[in-house]
Amino acid sequence: MENKRPEWTSYISFILATVGSSVGLGNIWRFPYIMGEYGGAIFLLVYLFIIAFICVIPLALELAMGKIYKGDVVSVYDKINPKFKVFGLLGVITSILICCFYFVVGGWIINYIWIFLINDVPADFSAYFLTMNSDPQIPIILTILFLLLTVIFPFLGVNKGIEKANNIMMPLFGLMLLILAGYALTLSGAPEGLKFMLKPDFSKISGPMFLAAFGQALFTLSIGMGAMITYGSYLKQEVNIKKSVYTLIVFDTIVALLAGVVIFPIVFTNGIEPTAGATLVFISLPQIFLSLPFTRILAVLFFVLLFFAAITSGISLLETAVACFSDHYKMSRKKASFLLFFVIALLSIPASLSFGLMADFQIFGKTFFDFLDSLTSNILMPVGTIIVCLVCGWYAKNIAKEALGEGVFSNFLMFILKFILPVIMTAVLFVGLT
Ligand code: PFF
Repeated sequence: MENKRPEWTSYISFILATVGSSVGLGNIWRFPYIMGEYGGAIFLLVYLFIIAFICVIPLALELAMGKIYKGDVVSVYDKINPKFKVFGLLGVITSILICCFYFVVGGWIINYIWIFLINDVPADFSAYFLTMNSDPQIPIILTILFLLLTVIFPFLGVNKGIEKANNIMMPLFGLMLLILAGYALTLSGAPEGLKFMLKPDFSKISGPMFLAAFGQALFTLSIGMGAMITYGSYLKQEVNIKKSVYTLIVFDTIVALLAGVVIFPIVFTNGIEPTAGATLVFISLPQIFLSLPFTRILAVLFFVLLFFAAITSGISLLETAVACFSDHYKMSRKKASFLLFFVIALLSIPASLSFGLMADFQIFGKTFFDFLDSLTSNILMPVGTIIVCLVCGWYAKNIAKEALGEGVFSNFLMFILKFILPVIMTAVLFVGLT
């Protein structure tokens, strides 16, 4: 059964799909609180530097790997050298493991849309979050519901499913983000919020801050597990990778910044610490929405925005595995989607109960949810990125040439690729392990 490989129908569709993958919970949920934790503007400065000069390299390489070898992540590594196939399998495993905690958050989002749209809005979100998560069934049902809504798109195929979803959801997402940012700027805490984002305090520079910025950059750009290899494999030959990656990182960064513009003025207007952590979006922020005019409209806009961000990223995570099962292992796309649905539904159960019933089920002192989060972001994605850099820098030089081009600046990038990146990434990994 030799089918012709699908291709993005236009350059815009490719950009929307890759931006859809990279813009996700990482930008709206993770970026503001990590930035809050590490001192605001100074973190931003370091993060921008890392994205523009360092992480752009593995991103371009992954897209080029897909574009040249035209396959899912396992087939691509297999074609480069059959001994490297295991690297592709590692990517597929990583993407499945990310789904298992990422989709739990997706389930919470669906629930919040539901309560703000139709249900009675709770008065105390701290208590509500706890109640929602201590139920033995609700978190599982929500996670599976989000999984079901996401898997439909890879099931329908690259053009009819994935491309359509991104073409519709990403422009809507952009519009909603602009509306919310405009609104946040009218709040009394806006100047303080912007100052927090834009005025660097150099005394806050620290080693852990650099590492957090690295981890965030890899996560947000979806690097290190093959999603970009898979999306790159649907590219037409004439597309210029170098130009595309800069478009991609500019969009991704603008979204992260706008998320900050939405969140920090709201936070400062209400005297909440910007370091409130992972619960910022699900406890502090909805609590604040209650005290603002147009509560329901505001909250629904925000959570639908978050839903679009999460689902378009989720689609790319699933597609990495679906493409592998269907391309490499010759399963039909529909069967592959079913199989994945059941595997992830099962594996995500302990993660969805991590904030309630299974809070005591711990691995290395972490709940299953936190364990999956740190295993993938701190270990598997950095390992995946080191592999990409080593394979393309030292072995498959044709990929590096396609990704980085030729010329003085390209030579400089090649130097970073071969020598600097593996060292830095190993340091990131080392700290992630300790
Ligand atoms: N980039 C996504 C985010 O920022 O939320 C997360 C992600 C999506 C990571 C897809 C990896 C991936 F393959």
